[in-house]
This record gives sequence, structure tokens and C-alpha cells, in this order.
Amino acid sequence: MKAINNRLLIGDIPASDLVRKYGSPIYAYDEAIIRQRMRDLKQGITYAKLMIYYALKANTNLHILRIIREEGAYADVHSPGEIMAAEKAGWKPEQIMLTSASVTNDEMRFAMDHGVLVNCDSLSQLERYGKLNPDSRVCVRINPDVGGGHHSHVITGGPESKFGIYHDKVPEIKEIAGKHRLKIVGVHQHIGSGILEPEKFRLAMNVLLKTAREFSDLEFVDFGGGLGVPYRPDQKALDLKSLGRMMTETFSSFCKEYGKELYMHIEPGRFPVAEAGYLLCTVNTLKETPTHKFVGVDTGFNHLIRPAMYGSYHQIVVTDRVDGEKSKIVVVGNICESGDAFTRDEHGLVDRELPEIKEGDVLAILNAGAYGFSMSSNYNTRPRPVEVLVKGSESRIIRKKEDEEYLLYGY
Ligand SMILES: Cc1ncc(COP(=O)(O)O)c(C=O)c1O
Repeated sequence: MKAINNRLLIGDIPASDLVRKYGSPIYAYDEAIIRQRMRDLKQGITYAKLMIYYALKANTNLHILRIIREEGAYADVHSPGEIMAAEKAGWKPEQIMLTSASVTNDEMRFAMDHGVLVNCDSLSQLERYGKLNPDSRVCVRINPDVGGGHHSHVITGGPESKFGIYHDKVPEIKEIAGKHRLKIVGVHQHIGSGILEPEKFRLAMNVLLKTAREFSDLEFVDFGGGLGVPYRPDQKALDLKSLGRMMTETFSSFCKEYGKELYMHIEPGRFPVAEAGYLLCTVNTLKETPTHKFVGVDTGFNHLIRPAMYGSYHQIVVTDRVDGEKSKIVVVGNICESGDAFTRDEHGLVDRELPEIKEGDVLAILNAGAYGFSMSSNYNTRPRPVEVLVKGSESRIIRKKEDEEYLLYGY
């Protein structure tokens, strides 16, 4: 977090000036942070044949996608809509892979028609894919029986998870592939999201590599995303250097044994964009009950659902009084549900120590760049806010606020 004269800066611009210029609420992104995080990844994981597939679901804004593409990433997509977004952002079909759960034949056909590699999430999908597209290249998603993540909703490995083909089902994969003359060119896993312990990645990696040995035509092994970022001020960042060292050493020795230097794919979504994004909003209501002091703002879980959905912590800053004498406050949104609070955990409201707040103050909800706008909705028939990109001392709109036509008619 950057502040000068007790004012929060986004790039070189005071956050509250952005609200003055573009209105409230706003999603604002700092381009420099996105580029820096992409470079951190490349410097941390030094395996020569590393390919970073950015997971579009974290943030699908086309301008942000273009920045990430310029930094050398490819595209991990989950739907035909994300295939279209990736293409619009400039990725070529061979730089895109579709990984999707409960996928329909039409969705697979869409990917095939666009020349996009399909990653099959189940034996039933592999069978359907084989019938639709025999004699083709395909990837399979493996459930390595290891999962991790910041909340049970985002753990995507292990017996409770709906994702992937269990790692003990290799004979079945081979049988279906043989029947339809499919060439398994990649094996994939994604064990969860928001993981800060390298050990989880190590455990899962070892299972996937054991499975990978069973396939002789591999071109790549994809270890998925899940790299966490610190949301709380006291949380330690993921040690990328030691994670990168472990991944490079483990994979290099696997490749030696396999007899071919394969590509290592990773699919970070949160990591490049989370810390670059700020949800800026304005205080319009102050009230007290016997237990809490409430501060009401002009945004809600329709714009940032993570606190309501997972009890996630997001740091909140009073943009023009970053430091000041603190009192206990809860910050709540404008949605007609009691769960609509930005200072809460899984069980309910949690007081936050914040500098004194007045009506009209602009608040910044930090680390909102991943799974913020992309999980937003029109609940309560409220429009999604404008998205603004900041580059140094310049700012510009990269997606306009939804208007009445869109809100009422969907176009
Ligand atoms: C298949 C797949 N890859 C990558 C990601 C990105 O995860 P993260 O944002 O935690 O890096 C996800 C997220 O759900 C995913 O489902």
C-alpha cells in the first residue's frame, strides 16, 4: 500500500481523486502491480520451459488481459465466453486451453471449432470428447487426492471435490483414449485457490508426476493455479523463490527420467491481479446498535462477494486518513441482506479498528482485483461499477458502468 501525506495512492494518483473524477463506486487497477506480479512469477519459477496460463476467471477485463498477454502469459479458460475474451485480447487458439467442469458437447464443439485444446475433467467427458473429436490431441485433469485453499468452497482436490479424474483411474483413461485414438498430450491438476503453503503444492505435484509417468506422449504437465496472496496485513506472502526451486528441481528430475524435456504449465489467476485491484466506495450512512457502530457504503456484495461468500478478509483504508485515531467499526454494504458486510468472517460481523469515519469519506477495499468484478452481479438491480486502469499518474476507463438499458434489458 502506497500513501503520501496520509492519502492512499493508486499508482501516483490519490484514490479519492479517482472517485471525484469517475464517481463512486469504482474498481480501480494499478497496471504496474499486474506487470510486477507477472515478473515475480517468472523470476520465482525459473524452469526454462515454463508456460504461464493466466486463469481468466480471476479478472476478465479485456484491457487487463492484454497487459497479462504482453507479459508473456497464455490463457486458461473455463467457458466459451472466456474463449471469446481470450481471442479478443489477442491470444491465438494454440495459446488457450479450456478446463471446464460439467461441460456440454456444444461447449466442447465451440472449443474444437476455435482450435482450442480441451482438458477433460471426467471419464464421461473424455468419452464424449472422443466421440466428437477422434484422432485428436487432448489433456486430462487429474484429481491427485490432495486439496488446499482459503475456504472449503475453493478446495478442488481430494474425495470431496467434483473436479478431475481420480488419480487411480489411469487404466480407464487409457482405454477411452485408445478407443477414440486420442493422444494424451498433457496431464493437469488444480488443487484449490489461495494457497500460501508450498508443501501442499509439493504433495500434489508428486502425485501428478506419478500419474504422468503412465502416459508416453506428453508434451506438458500442468500444475494449475492456486498461488495465494496475503490479504491480512500480518499474513506472510507465499515464498515464490522456494516454491519455484522445489518445482524446478522436482520437474527437471522427472523429465530426465521421462526422457523428454516437457513444458511446465501453471495457471495462476489470483496472483497477478488480486493486489492490483481496489474497490473504492463512499460512506453515506453512520448508525449504532447496542453492539456495533455501522458504517454504510454505496457498494455491496453485488460488487465484491468474497466477504459474504467465504468470510474473506479484505483490508479497508480510509483513503484520505490512512492513519488516525482508531475505533471499532463494521463496514456494511447497500444490499438488502444482513450478510452484506465487508468486515465479517464465516460466522458474522467482525469489528475492525479503523480511523474515525464521516459521511462522504472514500474507503478503499484492498486486494479486490481477483474474483471481485468477475464474480459481481446485478443483485438488487444495481449496475456493476466502472472499471478504471491507472498507469503512473494517468487513468482511463476500461469498462464503463452499466447503464439503464443494460440493467433492464441486458444489452
Ligand atoms: C482449473 C483452474 N485453473 C486455475 C485457477 C486459478 O486459481 P487461482 O486464482 O487460485 O490461481 C482456477 C480457479 O478456480 C481453476 O479452476
